[in-house]
This record gives sequence, structure tokens and C-alpha cells, in this order.
Amino acid sequence: MAKRGNSIIKGIEISEVITMLNKAYADEWLAYYQYFIEAKVIKGIMKDAAIAELEQHGGDELRHANMVADRILQLGGTPLLNPKDWFTHTNCGYEEPKDFDVVSILEDSIKGEQCAISTYASIAESVKDKDIVTYDIVSQILADEVEHEEDLQALSDDITDFVESMKKHI
Ligand SMILES: [Fe+2]
Ligand SMILES: [Fe+2]
Repeated sequence: MAKRGNSIIKGIEISEVITMLNKAYADEWLAYYQYFIEAKVIKGIMKDAAIAELEQHGGDELRHANMVADRILQLGGTPLLNPKDWFTHTNCGYEEPKDFDVVSILEDSIKGEQCAISTYASIAESVKDKDIVTYDIVSQILADEVEHEEDLQALSDDITDFVESMKKHI
């Protein structure tokens, strides 16, 4: 545990920060697995473009899990040790792919990103001016989640437009 590092945290209980981060940690692992399995089962038009995006996002979520775990340890906490705990701590849950069509898969992922954005915005708000280091880390992650939502939405819009223009030519 970083003694001096933690002594600069003011106005919020460290245990409260650890609890919030562990919930986000559960979200990141579930998001990682969601992207992993989506990239495997996805079907349909322009699926290669979607797979590239899903795999890249999955890699980012794993990197986020790493960043959050390191911060929890710095704070003297323990990242969740058992995957069973992911489901009891998660904010955003897990969107099991039911329909493997590209647009449905992208929709599921967009929902996940929107939840991640709300989660990190809320953590940032809670630690702002209190825990500078956590604020910095969650701000970096938040910027990635905003980019993820935008990437998925842009791809989904492109696919929908393409399908519409094909229909006009039939
Ligand atoms: Fe993430
Ligand atoms: Fe994300």
C-alpha cells in the first residue's frame, strides 16, 4: 500500500474508492468476455469490420481491468479474486448475445459502453478534488469508453445505411 501516496486522499474514505473500483473491475472483465465471445459468434454483413472493432475493444477492456486492479492494490485493497464475484459487484451486468446478427451484436455492445460511460463519469465525480490519482485513471478510461461508443455507433450506422442503399437498388 502506498502510504504517502494515500495520505494525499482527502474528503473520501479510501474503502469507498476501493468499493467503486472493484465494481468497475467486475464490469471490465465482463465487458472483455462479452467482446471476446461476440467476435467469435457474430454473423452477417460487414462482419469482418465489426470483428476488428470488437477485438480491439476487448483488448482495451482488459487493459482497463489492469489499470483498475493496480490502483486498487495501491490503495491497499484487493481486486475481486473470484469470477463469481463479478456478477455480484457489476454495475453494467452482462449482455449475453442472443441474436448473432452484426447490428444486434453492435447494439448490445453500445448498451455496455453507455453503461461504462455513466459508471466512470460517476466515479470521476465522486473522487474529483479528493483522490487525484484515481480521478486521472478513471478519466483516461472514460475517454476510451466514449471513443468505444462512438466507434460502434458509427459502424452500426454505416451498416444500416449500406443495407438501406442495397434495398433501393433491388
Ligand atoms: Fe473499459
Ligand atoms: Fe469500452
